[in-house]
Parts: sequence; C-alpha cells; structure tokens
Amino acid sequence: MNLQINIARLQREINELALISENRPPVVTRILFSEADLRGREFVKNLCREANLVLREDAVGNIFARWEGADKKLPAAATGSHIDAIPNAGKFDGTVGVLGAIEAVRALKRSGFQPRCSIELIVFTSEEPTRFGIGCLGSRLLSGVLPSKKAASLKDAAGKNLEQWLKEAGCHGTLNSVRLRENVYSAFIELHIEQGTVLEKERIFIGVVEKIAAPSTLRMRLAGVGGHAGAVLMPERHDAGLAGAEISLAVERAALTSGSADTVGTTGVFRIEPGAVNSVPCGARLEIDLRDTQVATRDAALRQIEKAAQAICQRRGVKLEIERLNVDPPAICDPALVKTVSEICRAHRISFKKMISRAYHDSLFMARICPTTMIFIPCFKGYSHRPDEFSSPGQIARGVRLLAETLAVTSG
Ligand code: GLV
Ligand code: MN
Ligand code: MN
Repeated sequence: MNLQINIARLQREINELALISENRPPVVTRILFSEADLRGREFVKNLCREANLVLREDAVGNIFARWEGADKKLPAAATGSHIDAIPNAGKFDGTVGVLGAIEAVRALKRSGFQPRCSIELIVFTSEEPTRFGIGCLGSRLLSGVLPSKKAASLKDAAGKNLEQWLKEAGCHGTLNSVRLRENVYSAFIELHIEQGTVLEKERIFIGVVEKIAAPSTLRMRLAGVGGHAGAVLMPERHDAGLAGAEISLAVERAALTSGSADTVGTTGVFRIEPGAVNSVPCGARLEIDLRDTQVATRDAALRQIEKAAQAICQRRGVKLEIERLNVDPPAICDPALVKTVSEICRAHRISFKKMISRAYHDSLFMARICPTTMIFIPCFKGYSHRPDEFSSPGQIARGVRLLAETLAVTSG
C-alpha cells in the first residue's frame, strides 16, 4: 500500500492540542471535563468533521467518528485512545492514538482506499483516573464491565458526581445506554507510545501488544485526631498523616516482596487535612495503584497492603476506611490481530517485538468485547506521565502508517 503520512500536519496538531492545557507549556494537564478537556474534545471533533467522519457521542461523552464502509451492516474496525491528561503530563500519551488515527484515516482516503466495513475512531472518556479515581471510565461502560448504577454514584474529591459533570458537559442520555451490543466491532487497534524503555533499549521500532497487565486501585480514608502542633504531646497523638506515611511504605514493601518482579505499587495520591504546618493531621486520603502481569501475586499484595493498613491504623488509634475502586484482570490480545500487525511489519522490514503493556489502556476493556491489540512506538527514555514525554516524528509516522495498514486489512 502506498500511504503518505502527513507527519508535519500531524505534528502541528499534536502541538496545538498540547497548548489546550490547564498549565503552561510544556506541561499538559487536561482533567476530565475541565475547560481544557472540553476545548480539547472540540478540537478533535473539528478535525473529524474536516475529515468527513460521521460524529456521535454517547451518554458518558465517548466520541465516535465513523468512516462509513461500503457495507454498513458489517461490524466496524475500530481504533482510538484518549485525550485527557493527568496533572503534569506530556503531549503524546493518548493523543498519538487519537490524532494519529485521524491522520491514518486521512492517509487511507488520500490513497483512494475504500473500506468494505466502516472504520470508527473512538475518543474514550476519562482513560485517566484523576477526576473519579478510576481509569478507563468510557471503555468500562462501553464493555459493560462497570454497571451504570455504580458509574452514576462516582464522586470526585469535591463530592460532585459523574451525572452532574456530564450534565454540565452537555452529554445527553442515560448511562445504561452506553454499553455496546455484541459484535459492533470486528477489531480494535490502539496506537500508543510505549511508556517504557523496552523498545528504545532494544532499538526496535514497533511493539505489538499481546497482553495488558492487571491494574487495581485502593482508596483509603484515614481519620485521626487533629490538634495544636505545639500543644499536643507526642504520646497523645493519633496522626493520620503518619499512619498514611507508614501505609505508603507498606505498599512499597508489598510490591517488593510479592515474589513477582512485575508487581508495582504506588501511593500516587496522599492528601492530609487540614494541611497546616502547625496542625496535627486529622485526616488523610490515599489512592494506591497496584499492578502486576499476574493476578495471583497482585491480589496477594493487595491483601497484604490492606492487612498492613489495618494494623498500622489500629496501633495509632486512627480510623480507616478502605475502598477497592477497581481490581481488574489482565487482557489477552487477539492472536490473529497480533499476527496481522506482525505480518505487516515483516512485509515492510520494520523491526518489531511482541510485548506486554505494563500501563493500562482502554484496550484492556475493548478486549472484552472484540479482538484487540495495540501498536506501541518507542518514547524517549520511556518517559511518560511527565512533561518531557517524547516520541519523534519518524517514530510517530511509522506507527500511524502501520495503524492505517492494519485498519485497511481489517476493514477491506
Ligand atoms: C494509564 O494512564 C495508566 O496509568 O496506565
Ligand atoms: Mn496516561
Ligand atoms: Mn494513555
């Protein structure tokens, strides 16, 4: 296939989207339904309109942009990713899979290709967990993994629930309408930066994802006893901050001693109340991210963390509430789709490697409802979730071309 990728245009679009941020460049922050996120969504929708794609949005704000195939009754070949960004992020996570997919479609159109089944781009709502503590909100609902009732009850740190946010964002419909019926898609292929160092270290151009690691998230609320930092003597204290600090160390210990080198544990949210230098912390809220490629070692570490937290809080006279926000199995990608992508790489003599994704993606949930794989491109030193995240134009163009060819094969 003779596909011309307009990498200059795509690069410009990536840079433009990066400027739509809650922070000054190079920092990208686009928390779900923030003003920046809403503007980002408009930016992407406009590009889809320009590419003559048919747009629709569901009740949770997932955006679908469709290039109608010759046979509209056939299941569509889908691609996509996310544009929301965690605080202090870079410009490539998710956006390469969204803007890159639009360029893949434009390139296919320019080449004269006509899809037999439709090609659909999905921009998923809230792949990042920042607002509600749970990632992949849109794809969890699409795949039926998250019941709509449970989704409706999700609250952000300020107590505002998802339904209120959706109303303000102009989303219509009921959450139980989001779930897709069976066989809507024949395939889902997500293009993404690797967010690790494997490809760069091994000087390999492409990663073809065979498995996505199993994520889980715990939220802990600690209630201690506050007081004056000068007046309350040390033996009298029930310091929620110190209990939280000990729990964070227990998370590290559980990950290090799980028996699996793939267990990773992070206390990424740690907020203390009231947050005044001369006040003993009366409350703490922790959000803990624990992952592994194997469920057994992940779950054992999860139980160890919960047990340790209970013992720490009991010893310190601090009340503890634990909520399991999500405990997900890993996803196994579709062997036939992995083979298709691998064969295209071979045909073009592009070096590739079958690999595991340690990060989670909407593909984790799309894999439940259709054959799924991911195309990884290298990123500088594996940096991600930080402003200096970087993939070169050449790396991006290679990924987009591969995505376009894979879409052509799966939709042709
Ligand atoms: C996705 O952003 C993840 O945290 O893996
Ligand atoms: Mn991310
Ligand atoms: Mn991502």
